[in-house]
Amino acid sequence: MAGAVHEGYLRLPNPVRPNRRPMLELSPDEMRALGYRAVDMMVSHLAALPDEPVFGTAARAEMEARLREPPPAEGRGWEAVLQRVGDEVFRPMTHLTHPRFFAYVPGPSNFIGAIADALASGFNPFAGAWAMSPAAAQVELVTADWLREALGMPSTAGGLFVSGGSMATLTALAVARHKRLGDDASRGVIYCSNQTHTAVDRGARILGFRPDQLRKLAPDEHYRLRVDDLAAAMDADAAAGLRPFCVVANAGTTSTGAVDPLAEIADLCRARGVWMHVDGAYGGAAVLTDEGRAILHGIGEADSIALDAHKWLFQPVECGCVLVRQAEDLKDTFRMVPAYLRDNDLSAEEVNFRDWGVQLTRGFRALKLWMTIQVFGMHAMRAAVGRGMRLAEVAEEELRALADWEIVTPAQLGIVTFRHRPNGIDGAEADDLQRRIATGLAADGYALLSTTELRGRTVLRLCTINPRTTDEEMRRTVRTLDRIARERVDSPPHAG
Ligand SMILES: Cc1ncc(COP(=O)(O)O)c(C=O)c1O
Repeated sequence: MAGAVHEGYLRLPNPVRPNRRPMLELSPDEMRALGYRAVDMMVSHLAALPDEPVFGTAARAEMEARLREPPPAEGRGWEAVLQRVGDEVFRPMTHLTHPRFFAYVPGPSNFIGAIADALASGFNPFAGAWAMSPAAAQVELVTADWLREALGMPSTAGGLFVSGGSMATLTALAVARHKRLGDDASRGVIYCSNQTHTAVDRGARILGFRPDQLRKLAPDEHYRLRVDDLAAAMDADAAAGLRPFCVVANAGTTSTGAVDPLAEIADLCRARGVWMHVDGAYGGAAVLTDEGRAILHGIGEADSIALDAHKWLFQPVECGCVLVRQAEDLKDTFRMVPAYLRDNDLSAEEVNFRDWGVQLTRGFRALKLWMTIQVFGMHAMRAAVGRGMRLAEVAEEELRALADWEIVTPAQLGIVTFRHRPNGIDGAEADDLQRRIATGLAADGYALLSTTELRGRTVLRLCTINPRTTDEEMRRTVRTLDRIARERVDSPPHAG
C-alpha cells in the first residue's frame, strides 16, 4: 500500500483517504482551484505591471484601519481570503520587479523563480540535511558551483544559499573571524571603504566587534578603496598591537557601482594572511558578461564572496549566496552535531548544509535559480545582465543631451548618478532640489529612483538592472525627470 502511494500519488487526481478527519486541509479539488486562482492573480499582476504605477505606499494609520483585527475564530474560506490578499495585502505596494523601478537595488524577479518558490514550499524539503532531501542538497551544490565557476574561484570553493546579502556577509565574516582570529574578536580589525554597505557594520556588530574595529577608509576620486591607504592602516594597527584580519572589498558599491581594485587587494591580503571578503551582493552577477568580468578582474582571488541572486540574477526575494574559497572552512566554523541530530550525520561526502551556515531548518532557495537557468539557459542570463549595463548608458546619454544636468558618476555596473544644477546652484539648495525631484517622480508614478550622498552632496541615482526596461522607457524616465525638475525650479519650496 505504502509503495503504491509512493509511486502513484502525483498522478492520482483525488486520493481518497477514508477514516481521516481533515485537519487544516483542503480537498484536492479545492487545492487545485485555489492554486489556479493564485496563479491567475500572479499572471494578471505581472502582465499589467508595466502599466501600473511603480510606487505605492500608505501611512500606518491607514493600514491599521484596514488590517487590524483579532484572529478570526472561524475560518472565512479561501476565496474570500484570497480576494482580500489581492485587494488589500498586495496593495498599496511599491513594485521591485516593475520595469521602471530604478531605486535602491531593483529586484527584477522572474516567473520561473516564483513558481520554483511555490514548488519548494509545496514539497517542503528540509534543506539542512542530506539524508532528508539528497537531490535538493545536490541541486544546491551544483547551483552554487555554477556561480563559483563564473566568479573564477577554485574547485575547493563552495557555498550555500541564504536570505540575501546581509546574511551572506554575516556568514563570511563569521568564517573570517573563526579562521583568522580563532573567534577572539577583541583585537581584530576589519577594513573597507566608506562606500561599503552597512551589512558589514551590522555583521561586525553581531559578531562582537566594536565600531572602532571597523576602519572605513576614504576612497579615491572614483570611490574605490586606495590600496596604499589600506596597507598603511594595517601597518599602523599592527604596530599598535591590533590584529588586521579582514578586508571587505566592493564588487559594485550600492551608491555608484564602484569596484575596488580587487586583484591588488587580493595580493595585499595574501601577503599578510588577511581574509579578503568581496561584497558582490548586487554587482557580482556582472561576471556573466565579458565586460563585467574585466571590470571585476581579481574577484575569484577572494577568500569569500557574497552575491545576491534576488538582485541581478532575477530571483524573487529571498535568494543570496555566500561562497568560501575553502568550503571546508564553512564546516569548520558552523558544524555542531548534538545527540538528536546524529541519526542523519552521514559521511563527509554527503553535505549537510546545516553544517555550513547559521540555519538548521532551511528552505530550498537554490531551486529557483537552478530552475531559471535550466529553463532560460546561461546565454539568456548573460544577455539579461548585459542589458542592465547598457540601460545605464542609455540613461547617461539622455542626461548628457539635456541642459543643466551633471553626471556625477558615469554608468558603471548598471548605476548612474547625477544632479540637476540649473544656474550652477550648489550646496544645500541643490541638495534640496534633488530630493524634491525624487519625490516628484514618485508622485508622478511613471518611474521611481532614489537619492544617495556622495562627498556630502545629495545626488540622484538610477539602478537599471531590470532587463525588461525598454530603451524608450529609460529615455522617457529621464525626460520625465527633466520636466519635474523644471517644474520644481519654477516653484521653489519657499515660494509658498
Ligand atoms: C552591495 C550590497 N551589499 C549588501 C547588501 C545587502 O543585501 P540584502 O538586502 O540582500 O541583505 C546590498 C543590498 O542592496 C548591497 O547593495
